[in-house]
Amino acid sequence: METLVCVSPGHFEYKASNLPELQAGEALVKIRRIGICGTDLHAFEGTQPYFEYPRILGHELAVEFVEGDATQFSPGEKLTVLPYFNCNACYACRSMKPNCCEHLRVCGVHQDGGMVEYMKVPSRFLIKGYGLSEDELALVEPLSIGAHAISRAQLREGEFVMVIGAGPIGLGIMEMARIGGGKVIAVDVNVSRLAFCQKMLGVEHCLNARDSDLNEKLKTITDGSMPPLVIDATGNVNAINNAFQYMAHGGRYVLVGLQKNDITFSHPQFHKIEGTLMSSRNATMDDFKRVISALQRKEIHAEKFITHRVPFHHVKREFPSYLNPAAGVIKAMIEF
Ligand SMILES: NC(=O)c1ccc[n+]([C@@H]2O[C@H](COP(=O)([O-])OP(=O)(O)OC[C@H]3O[C@@H](n4cnc5c(N)ncnc54)[C@H](O)[C@@H]3O)[C@@H](O)[C@H]2O)c1
Ligand SMILES: [Zn+2]
Ligand SMILES: [Zn+2]
Repeated sequence: METLVCVSPGHFEYKASNLPELQAGEALVKIRRIGICGTDLHAFEGTQPYFEYPRILGHELAVEFVEGDATQFSPGEKLTVLPYFNCNACYACRSMKPNCCEHLRVCGVHQDGGMVEYMKVPSRFLIKGYGLSEDELALVEPLSIGAHAISRAQLREGEFVMVIGAGPIGLGIMEMARIGGGKVIAVDVNVSRLAFCQKMLGVEHCLNARDSDLNEKLKTITDGSMPPLVIDATGNVNAINNAFQYMAHGGRYVLVGLQKNDITFSHPQFHKIEGTLMSSRNATMDDFKRVISALQRKEIHAEKFITHRVPFHHVKREFPSYLNPAAGVIKAMIEF
């Protein structure tokens, strides 16, 4: 079978390999769709911290069950994959937080992923597709990042949610916030992404982070209180440090975006508002199930997010173009 290996930064190679041999507890799946994520782009660019090469990328997967140690699936059945392979033994795993397992191995990041024709997966990480399309199944993982952030934040009905960063991750947060009854305020510096939020997702309040009267606009929108829930999905250290000032008194700030520097904020100000700061990493099986049911109920329209499509055998040729901001990629989808 054919595999696509990222052999070193900037270089993909198609290679032939044998079908994987199954062990107890594993299943063989045929890959049907792969969503391309920022992590894949950064890994290809060589800017993903601690990334090791060669590596087979791909963790946003729609697959077809072929065979293996899993009585609950039948051959040909379409599934998605929870790509966060946890140890099941550490404190986080024992506390129902396998998404932040101490020994986590993310499929397609810490170990080889889905840019192959067939892959073996521990069966416990396969999730039923309930009739969703291949596109929808490949979008479950990135949307679940948003579902997890909203669940961490314990969003309340009718609450304002300021989402900073309107990339695929921020857009997923906005969708899950809307479904959870939140009133979304989208913020970005990229006007075309703000326009996408307004036109495609129907977000009422879309604000430019560079706007000098952003604070005033937030006050007007929130009747003077400022947003009780602020979520970063930029991964930009300046944006992260800057956003503490937007929190309401008693508010929560959730960091979904990730960057490699220290963050700093005023302790007296944070004390004054009795702020709550949390990180949100990956997603759980429950988050996946909530997204699957939202897709089933057509509360989210997967096709809106897919801006580019590429057949597997053209990925090597097309992939570098997705790094160019002018390409306007939101979600590129690899098809088999
Ligand atoms: N929590 C998790 O498990 C998880 C999973 C996947 C990705 N991430 C992280 O989420 C972040 C977003 O991922 P993405 O794929 O959507 O990235 P992206 O680069 O496509 O989107 C980021 C958006 O932030 C905007 N932005 C940048 N600087 C800004 C600023 N100062 N003010 C306002 N907006 C600004 C950009 O214009 C862009 O639209 C990244 O940091 C990524 O590492 C986290
Ligand atoms: Zn991803
Ligand atoms: Zn663990």
